[in-house]
Amino acid sequence: MAPSIAEVPTPEIVVPVKVNPGTTEAKPKVRRIIDEEGGKTTASYPEYLPTWDHGQKYAPLQPFTHIDPGKDADPSFKDLLTEGSKIQNLTPGIGSEVTGAQLSKLTSAGKDQLALLVAQRKVVAFRDQDFADLPIHEALDFGGYFGRHHIHPTSGAPEGYPEIHLVYRNNNAWENDQYLAEKNSSVSWHSDVTYEQQPPGTTFLYLLEAPEVGGDTVFVDQVQAYKRLSPAIKERLHGLKAVHSGFEQAEFSLKRGGVVRREPVKNEHPIVRTHPVTGEKALFVNGGFTRSIVGLKKEESDALLGFLLAHVGRGIDYQTRIRWAPKTLVVWDNRVTAHSAVIDWATGERRHLARITPQAERPYETPYVPEDESQS
Ligand code: SIN
Repeated sequence: MAPSIAEVPTPEIVVPVKVNPGTTEAKPKVRRIIDEEGGKTTASYPEYLPTWDHGQKYAPLQPFTHIDPGKDADPSFKDLLTEGSKIQNLTPGIGSEVTGAQLSKLTSAGKDQLALLVAQRKVVAFRDQDFADLPIHEALDFGGYFGRHHIHPTSGAPEGYPEIHLVYRNNNAWENDQYLAEKNSSVSWHSDVTYEQQPPGTTFLYLLEAPEVGGDTVFVDQVQAYKRLSPAIKERLHGLKAVHSGFEQAEFSLKRGGVVRREPVKNEHPIVRTHPVTGEKALFVNGGFTRSIVGLKKEESDALLGFLLAHVGRGIDYQTRIRWAPKTLVVWDNRVTAHSAVIDWATGERRHLARITPQAERPYETPYVPEDESQS
């Protein structure tokens, strides 16, 4: 069986590039093209094959002001859900599916309404979208409307477009055995890159290729997860902060011969954050990056965090599941959701997606208000 990118420590194709302007010193630029058959890839979107450039190093991210596009959006959604489009809710609380709307053609008013709709429904799957077929820079121009592009410190990116984060897995039984050797399931709840000081808000993931069956993505509503807690616990969580760390991700990347484009960071964020557009409060902890609760002893922190993460994970009544189909673009609000890919196919089919990850405001909290309980 062909090994996946995760297990291959050495590059398959090495292209020398200049690293220091003005010198001729060459350092290898790693480019891994996977699944090659007779020198020719079988990928449907070869321009989106992941590459890692060891010459790329970025300075630490600087703070910026984020004004959320959803803030003054028209709640009638008349520029987003125009005549001929249809919206269906996937569950009462979280997730919708839209057909008949072409996001790449939206006006600014339509984009503002998109941010609002996604903030309200938490995750929305748009079918029949043209994103995968657009020139990559046009897809990025669209995403840039929603915030500053995040460049992932470790993930594969299409050559020349580090702002695109790629999800790539050519699954097979061998890989599954490896993956599940130390885990009971593939479920890995996380919100994206919450170790950043300004983690992403409205986030886009579009399909390039998927297994015919399998490889869904599940989402959980962290607003509802907060609401389900008792008033006593809610009140206690207010004012607490948690540490979110990118160090483990960087170490993992280095261990397998990957890149670290930017030095890893840790940031403290409130455990209950307020959404700038809806005003909703959400539990802001996730299994991917939240490591500890500030000010608690280790056993206390582990126990409380363990409870919160288990609570989020078992809330099937506030989760939804998106089935990928060709030309699907899924948009979620990373401030108020966590998600997990489902690694459940072993057919050798490729799962290949592209993410555009605009950053949003620094998470903040507003005080606990006992009167809010009557609205929960
Ligand atoms: C992601 O974590 O952003 C990707 C989710 C997926 O692979 O379904």
